[in-house]
Amino acid sequence: MTKKMWGGRFAEAATASVEQYTQSESFDRALYREDITGSKAHARMLGATGIISPEEAEVLVRGLEQVLGEIESGVFVWKRELEDVHMNIERRLTEIVGPVGGKLHTARSRNDQVGLDFRLHVSVRLDVWSQELARLVDVLANRGEEHANTLLPGCTHLQPAQPVSLAQHLLAYAQMFRRDHERLTDCLKRVRVSPLGAAALAGTTHPINPALVAEAVGFPATFANSMDAVSDRDFALEALFCGSVIMMHLSRFCEEIILWANPNFGYVKLPDAYSTGSSIMPQKKNPDVCELMRGKTGRVYGALTTLLTIMKGLPLTYNRDMQEDKEPFFDADRTVSASVSIMADMLAVLEFQPENMRRALDKGFLNATELADYLAAKGLPFRDAHHATGAAVALAERKGVRLEDLSLEELRGFSELVEQDVFAVLEHEAAVRRRALSGGTGPGPVAAQLTNLRSWLAGLR
Ligand code: ARG
Repeated sequence: MTKKMWGGRFAEAATASVEQYTQSESFDRALYREDITGSKAHARMLGATGIISPEEAEVLVRGLEQVLGEIESGVFVWKRELEDVHMNIERRLTEIVGPVGGKLHTARSRNDQVGLDFRLHVSVRLDVWSQELARLVDVLANRGEEHANTLLPGCTHLQPAQPVSLAQHLLAYAQMFRRDHERLTDCLKRVRVSPLGAAALAGTTHPINPALVAEAVGFPATFANSMDAVSDRDFALEALFCGSVIMMHLSRFCEEIILWANPNFGYVKLPDAYSTGSSIMPQKKNPDVCELMRGKTGRVYGALTTLLTIMKGLPLTYNRDMQEDKEPFFDADRTVSASVSIMADMLAVLEFQPENMRRALDKGFLNATELADYLAAKGLPFRDAHHATGAAVALAERKGVRLEDLSLEELRGFSELVEQDVFAVLEHEAAVRRRALSGGTGPGPVAAQLTNLRSWLAGLR
């Protein structure tokens, strides 16, 4: 049994099962890079403030770099009994540099150390999410531009409502993913706050300079309150909330693609690479990737709920419960980053079927609002126009024809205001074109949206 680094006052060793139960090395070793980055910054700060000599600081930094090399080349021996990533690295550092290794932990506790490591990790991962989201918005902008003139039924209540352009439909998702990106940018302001210097909970008597550490790791701010610094996990909760909203958006999109791939819709052909066959029904092409993405959304909500629940009963300050913060984030991160990336790849090659969308416009009287607006524009109170149009729809339905298949005489039966020009108004292209105000589905506002999204994307680079 290895002697614990905190073992000074302990006479009895933990049983193997307790050791296994309490360790975090099996998962927090994923933080080795951040741990070494934080320790190097801390060592340099200790040297710069004269808490240790500059030569000692240099020895620690070089030793830490050697540890990093050993981990990355796979020769590092991880020891479960050393509990966690921090102890594993510090123990190996001391083997390499000798007793001076013991000076690294001056003016520091694992409580502020793990806070910094986790914040650095979340920071790196949220940058990756942001990059993937930007790529997804870019793909949506490209596909939208390609389909500026493709029309399909827009739905409310999943019932045919009014014609819209496929571009407008796709850009609705682009707007969601843009907001997700903006949410991450805002969240990162609170992630990138260094807690180092809070020490165990109360701060330290050593003349440290927390700002030097923050600057060295690229964080613009340091903690304001030592007790808050070691017990705050809001940054991880916010990240998981952001991830949950991203997954919710992806899941809604997946649901639409699944519907659109159903032959009764036939709006898209699923690329072979993103679908699978059935082991019994030879005709099947199943939208498994979309279904899994919809399903995996639950994992990310689960991670958010897990961490909220871990935190809800904790008195100040650090409590060991908080060690349970990492695995939910790691799992959510794997899910979110892969999902956004796969969605971008899949959308880039998704085959839309404009003819089938076009055909679907003939079912469901999507131009009924046009007739009502036409009558209202001619002075009929909108409620009366709505009623007259409803009656016209009922007649068309009885005859099994489209609204525009009714004769002028039949239409005039519902209102004397109807004239020959009504047929141009009932065309779906015209209906879309007339929605020309900002944010509408008309070609003008859709082009403006595209320009706006593209300049936003350019501003990120
Ligand atoms: N493995 C611990 C965690 O992840 C590190 C901090 C331990 N601190 C302590 N006082 N036991 O939270």
